[in-house]
Amino acid sequence: MYQLCPSILSADFNRLGEQIQQLEHAGVEWLHIDVMDGDFVPSISFGMPVIKSIRKESKLFFDVHLMVTEPERYIQDFVDCGADSITVHAEACEDLERTVERIRNAGVKVGVSIKPATPVADITYILKEVDMVLIMTVQPGFGGQKYIEECTEKIEELKALIDEEGLDVDIQVDGGINEQTLTTVLDAGANLVVAGSYVFKGDLGENAKSVRKVLDQYEN
Ligand code: DX5
Ligand code: ZN
Repeated sequence: MYQLCPSILSADFNRLGEQIQQLEHAGVEWLHIDVMDGDFVPSISFGMPVIKSIRKESKLFFDVHLMVTEPERYIQDFVDCGADSITVHAEACEDLERTVERIRNAGVKVGVSIKPATPVADITYILKEVDMVLIMTVQPGFGGQKYIEECTEKIEELKALIDEEGLDVDIQVDGGINEQTLTTVLDAGANLVVAGSYVFKGDLGENAKSVRKVLDQYEN
């Protein structure tokens, strides 16, 4: 399964509902929702009230990326406001195993993310317990940054590990995705591609469709 996960961090919040509809009409199935707390990352984005509002109008799969210190505190809140999947940062959790288990018990999909400087080896012990690993390909905190080339090897390493163990774990990438880096990450083994500025610049529907065309080449 290959999916484009548009990140609403790059949306025009004055027209958020309308833009989400445009993506839905273009065949997008996932929506990437970046929550930042001003502590784990320098910036603050948005939280539960925004997610709750868009949940009412959208059937998309809500992929919530928590860039939050001790995210365990908020699992139930994000489930209640409509998350279908919750991704936490390994670096942000005092007890990652317990946090992952709590997300699982809350009835949604579980993702674990690592920052560019965190090695894949730090999360291999928990691979069997998660649905997805999110490899950050920029420093978390802001949209519109440049893809960090060194991260490509991490995607390859993770893909090899997952295949070796025969696990059913998705590989998501996030940060600096554009026409060029899209094929780089897909070749390396990613199947869930987050894109913010690349999708929300210009015609959203057309942008989403052109990414879908590339994903379809990998699907078969
Ligand atoms: C960054 C966020 C990303 C961001 C990506 O911390 O996690 O999801 O929206 O933005 P682009 O695609 O513009 O790099
Ligand atoms: Zn993100």
